[in-house]
Amino acid sequence: MTRRKFVCGNWKMHKTVAEAVAFVKELEAALGEAKGKVQVAVAPPFTALHAVARAATGTSVEVAAQDVHWEAKGAFTGEVSAAMLAEVGCRHGIVGHSERRQLFGETDETVRKKVGALLAAHLQPIVCVGETLAEREAGRTLEVVGRQVRAGLAGLSAQELERLTLAYEPVWAIGTGRTATTAQAQEVHAAIRAILRELGAPVADRIRIQYGGSVKPENAAELMAQPDVDGALVGGASLEPNGFAAIVKGALR
Ligand code: 13P
Repeated sequence: MTRRKFVCGNWKMHKTVAEAVAFVKELEAALGEAKGKVQVAVAPPFTALHAVARAATGTSVEVAAQDVHWEAKGAFTGEVSAAMLAEVGCRHGIVGHSERRQLFGETDETVRKKVGALLAAHLQPIVCVGETLAEREAGRTLEVVGRQVRAGLAGLSAQELERLTLAYEPVWAIGTGRTATTAQAQEVHAAIRAILRELGAPVADRIRIQYGGSVKPENAAELMAQPDVDGALVGGASLEPNGFAAIVKGALR
């Protein structure tokens, strides 16, 4: 089963509107041979989503939000709904990022609600899972990631599962320069795929599982060459267009 690779840049709290718009133009120019062959998205801060989506119209770059609220509307100060994201041109929504889990109270339950809200608004969820260093050292990686996947996707139909992407991001590899080895990544990706088979048997082989955590041009190709690594979710190294394009091109090798 060949799955088209999917590389998404998660900009976190970086870039003004002007910087974000300029980036899209430079990235499109730098993608070269990868254009159309690899699915590419960037996730700017909320403030830049509308302008980036406009700048990306007619290019091969798609737009993702970094988070979403699960309700459609209401008294939820500071929150943004899935329909609002769709209106400004988002196609994807990241949920369950470890920074949201650790710093902002995201739980498996809120992840599941957000996945439902994104699907209802015809957006494609990117669901992040990953263990902490303490959990890995205690031998609990597959248990923790398994729980996050099962709870985050509970009750979804095969058709709904097919519309989402998983992102395995070991917390100890995020922003640390310490990347998982290819063997560590492949082991967890294969375990996630096995759970997806249980949850939605026929579609499991079509669902992309991205790796995230200190992905850079030097290690991207090797990671994405693993049989169950179908792309990357890139933080720091997605902030500069040529470096990010080099990572995307790593998916072609
Ligand atoms: P880094 O690539 O900076 O390690 O961040 C990974 C990440 O959190 C992407 O969502």
